[in-house]
Amino acid sequence: MYTEREILESLSKVEASREQRLKDRENIKRMTAEDKEAILKAYHPDYKDDNFENLKIGVNKGDKVPHELADMLQANPRINTADIDLANPTYDVDVLVIGGGGSGASAAIEAHEAGANVMMVTKLRIGDANSMMAEGGIQAADKPNDSPMQHYIDVMGGGHFVNKPELVSKLVNDAPEAIRWLNELGVMFDKEEDGEMTTVHGGGTSRKRMHACKDYSGAEIMRVLRDEVFNRNIPVVDFTAAIELIKDVDGKIAGAVLLNMETNEIMVARAKAVIIATGGAGRMHYNNFPTSNHYGATADGLVLGYRAGAKLLFADTLQYHPTGAAYPEQILGALVTEKVRSLGAQLVNRDGVAYIHPLETRDVNASGIIRECCARGEGVPTGTGQAVWLDTPMIEMIGGEGTIERRIPAMMRMFGKYDIDIRKVPILVYPTLHYQNGGLEISANGMTAVENLFVAGEAVGGIHGRNRLMGNSLLDIIVFGRNAGQQAGKAVNAGITLKDLTLSHVDAYKAEMKDAGIETDLVSPKLLPTYHHREANK
Ligand code: FUM
Repeated sequence: MYTEREILESLSKVEASREQRLKDRENIKRMTAEDKEAILKAYHPDYKDDNFENLKIGVNKGDKVPHELADMLQANPRINTADIDLANPTYDVDVLVIGGGGSGASAAIEAHEAGANVMMVTKLRIGDANSMMAEGGIQAADKPNDSPMQHYIDVMGGGHFVNKPELVSKLVNDAPEAIRWLNELGVMFDKEEDGEMTTVHGGGTSRKRMHACKDYSGAEIMRVLRDEVFNRNIPVVDFTAAIELIKDVDGKIAGAVLLNMETNEIMVARAKAVIIATGGAGRMHYNNFPTSNHYGATADGLVLGYRAGAKLLFADTLQYHPTGAAYPEQILGALVTEKVRSLGAQLVNRDGVAYIHPLETRDVNASGIIRECCARGEGVPTGTGQAVWLDTPMIEMIGGEGTIERRIPAMMRMFGKYDIDIRKVPILVYPTLHYQNGGLEISANGMTAVENLFVAGEAVGGIHGRNRLMGNSLLDIIVFGRNAGQQAGKAVNAGITLKDLTLSHVDAYKAEMKDAGIETDLVSPKLLPTYHHREANK
């Protein structure tokens, strides 16, 4: 529970203004396009040049990326190519899926459905991924008052209209079928008494199209996908990371070099098609932000793809989810789902003022919080920084008693552990690094410019432009995961003949590093985050 004087003083102002804010809440104005642009430019970390540097090598040479990503893209490979026995692979499959989250599982299921001999490798265990941690829901325009076109406009608007149109088109048009597929597989979506799916708004949505499984949406979806992978007896090689892609001498993708994370054994997997489904990068802690992400989110897929010649798109844009937990310190950066705001909780500053509409897009709301805390001095001191309030008791006042326990039990439980009953008291939040908006560029068939190298999920760039809307990530892992699996299966069925395997692209990349004068002790892909114990008194 809160005990600090400054927090308690501010809390009493939030409580005192609650009744009036409740009455006025429909009147909070949405920001104009000009206001949004101004707040983003002034406060969003994506707009601070100091946070980025230009790549010196590779297909995106000259483009800006965060320093931490540049370090990984321009680091040394983990292998000496001459040591790798490419002629005697440990595994020989049609489709190799790298990654054990929702997009990897969806891809593996569909490649298997197409009749391919498919194998998944994952550096941790299947399901140890951001997908499992997703909370608020999955978007799909499947209600009579909605349409894929309406969804399309929202996605483009949220992404600042730079999204790749053909990818957005696929995302929104395949969304209703993705929900149907998950429902059939056994996902227990929230439903009304008549069986209709329960849907709510997310930030930047013009219709209520967020389908959810309470606030355990990702865990529920991943449970079902994992079962399906197991039911089909698709081989899953756990604790095994892909550390380099392999090509054939014609430049087609031909497999991956694997590292057993427990024994350090190096292996080769030969494959006619490879699907990168390695997820995000929150554990890179770009710009020193805390993160809502899974322990394995270290941008590995971007490194693998980039070294093999695949292009990055929007790698300079990151998503800071507005509401990361800011108190207590034990859960710093943990996700407080946007659904809390969908259900009516307002963002409120130190003085009890609801200073912004709670469902502006994420980049705008994150900037708003940074402005309140860092520029206006209207944040609440938390001991580790500053924060604003997310006024959760409003949810029960709007939706009735029991709404919180029924709709967002995970939130109630997370804060309840620290004696914070979110039905009675608001919580303190600050932006947390949540998502990489950019990634490897694909066409609508899921393939990169490297033949038979597919990408799905958070490692893809272009679907969400420069800012993703809530619920479109769970959607894209299903739509583009399934798509990659189907397309890879189709390519295999059409006949792929591999010539001799080679890692010459890795040697060429090393030569390019040398020519560019890059000297570093760093190696990549990173695989696991680096955490150092803080020195005493620091
Ligand atoms: O706020 C959330 O529940 C996060 C959802 C998402 O990133 O799509």
